[in-house]
Amino acid sequence: MSDAPTGESSVVLEVSGLSVHHGQLCAVEDVSFSVSRGEVLAMIGANGAGKSTLLRTIAGLHTPSGGSISFEGADISRLAPHRRFARGISLVPEGRRLFSSMTLEENLLVGTTKGARGTFTIEAIYELFPWMRERRRSRVWQFSGGEQQAVAIGRALVANPRLLLLDEVSLGLAPIVIERIYDVIPRIVAEGVTVLIVEQDVGQGLKVATRVHCLLEGRTSLTGVPGELSDADIERAYFGASLHDSERRAGGGA
Ligand SMILES: Nc1ncnc2c1ncn2[C@@H]1O[C@H](COP(=O)(O)OP(=O)(O)O)[C@@H](O)[C@H]1O
Ligand SMILES: [Mg+2]
Repeated sequence: MSDAPTGESSVVLEVSGLSVHHGQLCAVEDVSFSVSRGEVLAMIGANGAGKSTLLRTIAGLHTPSGGSISFEGADISRLAPHRRFARGISLVPEGRRLFSSMTLEENLLVGTTKGARGTFTIEAIYELFPWMRERRRSRVWQFSGGEQQAVAIGRALVANPRLLLLDEVSLGLAPIVIERIYDVIPRIVAEGVTVLIVEQDVGQGLKVATRVHCLLEGRTSLTGVPGELSDADIERAYFGASLHDSERRAGGGA
C-alpha cells in the first residue's frame, strides 16, 4: 500500500517520455501525461496518430522503445499484459474482439477474474445496460454493433478495473447508439474507475472528458481542459497547422 495521502489528486496513471516503434516507424514519440483518480482523459487525434498504439502499450501489448509507464505509483513498463490486467487495467480494444459464437453472458463470464471483487458483478452490468438481461443467452454474433460494443465494455468492467482503457468506442456506430454508450461513462466514473478514452470523434471526446490530450503523428500537439480550448486550437492540433491552413486556403472563397 502506498502511504500517499488519499487526496483527490492521486495519480493513477503516469506516462513519461513514452516512445513506441513499429519496426522503423515511430508511432508514439516522447509522450507524457498523467491521469488522476476520477478523471476521464480523452486521447484524440486523426487516424494513424498513434492513439491505439499508446493504449495498447499501456495495456502491455507493445513494448516501448523509451520512457516509462507507472500505475498507482509502481513502474509497470516491464510487466506482462496479464499482470497489468490483474493489477486493475482493462482494455476495450478497437474492434471489440468478442467471442461471437458464445452467448452474451458467457462473454461477460470470460471477463470475471477470481481476485477482482467489486461493484461490477454481472448483475451490475445488467443494471447498467438493462436490455442485456433478456438477451443474456443470445449469441453475440446476432447483436448490432452498438450492442456488441456494450458487451465489450461489460466484459472489461466485470474485472473491476481501476483504470479502463476504451479504444474508439464510437467507431462505425450511429450517433444515437454512441450516445447511449457514452451515457454510462459517468456512472462508471462514479464507481471510482479512472477512464482513458481514445476517440477520433473530437466532439464526443470533449463531451465526456475532464481533460483532453491530442496526438499528431505520434507527438503531443495539445493538452488542456475541454471548456478552455478553442475550436481553432483543437483543429490545428488535430490536423496540424500546415494542413489546416492549406485546407482553409483551398476551401476559402472569402
Ligand atoms: N502492429 C503494427 N505494425 C506496424 N505498424 C503499425 C502497427 N500498428 C499501428 N501501426 C502504424 O502506427 C501508426 C499509428 O497507428 P495507430 O496507433 O493505430 O493510430 P490510431 O489509433 O491513432 O489510428 C500508423 O502509422 C499505423 O499504420
Ligand atoms: Mg486506433
